[in-house]
Amino acid sequence: MRLREALESDADELKDMYLRAFDESEAATVAAVALRFLSEESADPVLSLLAEEEQILGHVSFSPVYLSQTHRLIGYLLAPLAVHPDFQKKGIGSQLVKLGLDRVSSLGAGYVFVYGDPKYYERFGFEANKASPFIPPHPLQYPYARQGMILNENKTLKGGSITCSSAFDDPNMW
Ligand SMILES: CC(C)(COP(=O)(O)OP(=O)(O)OC[C@H]1O[C@@H](n2cnc3c(N)ncnc32)[C@H](O)[C@@H]1OP(=O)(O)O)[C@@H](O)C(=O)NCCC(=O)NCCS
Repeated sequence: MRLREALESDADELKDMYLRAFDESEAATVAAVALRFLSEESADPVLSLLAEEEQILGHVSFSPVYLSQTHRLIGYLLAPLAVHPDFQKKGIGSQLVKLGLDRVSSLGAGYVFVYGDPKYYERFGFEANKASPFIPPHPLQYPYARQGMILNENKTLKGGSITCSSAFDDPNMW
């Protein structure tokens, strides 16, 4: 299995993988975010990683997160993440998450946030109390699902409102 950065030319296959991995109720929305990140041009680029053999097996994005008040980059939001249903529970999701965390850590990211099942994300070291000082862009439907991790500590940063990529500027995603 190879892990590499996703390209715009991966879009069709990536979309197909997301539509298979997620429930019908949310698959199209999540796939659209993953695809949008492939072509998004921003000052702080999105990290978009995929796992592949003969086909795409899994994918993850890490998009920039800013402190709203100062527009300073403070870290990344891990989302979306998906593994093709035929290849789940083989460690592929974990490899993608770990590689992404290494990459954004070496970019100097202070925090990584995630909004998903704590039973899955706690294995990487995500904790609810690391996210709680930061106010998300929209009210949360599942507050227990919001977690964070400190990669590079900045003792002067105590918390505040955060701004995510415009791809997540939709209250239904929170
Ligand atoms: C969640 C997902 C990315 C995990 O990928 P994966 O490659 O199967 O995960 P890994 O092989 O690295 O880890 C498997 C472990 O995670 C657990 N796990 C998988 N999905 C889980 C979930 N939603 N909640 C809790 N645990 C989960 C498995 O039970 C397994 O546990 P074990 O190690 O104790 O046996 C994959 O199941 C998936 O794509 N699910 C559908 C889409 C989705 O829910 N994405 C995440 C959105 S937050």
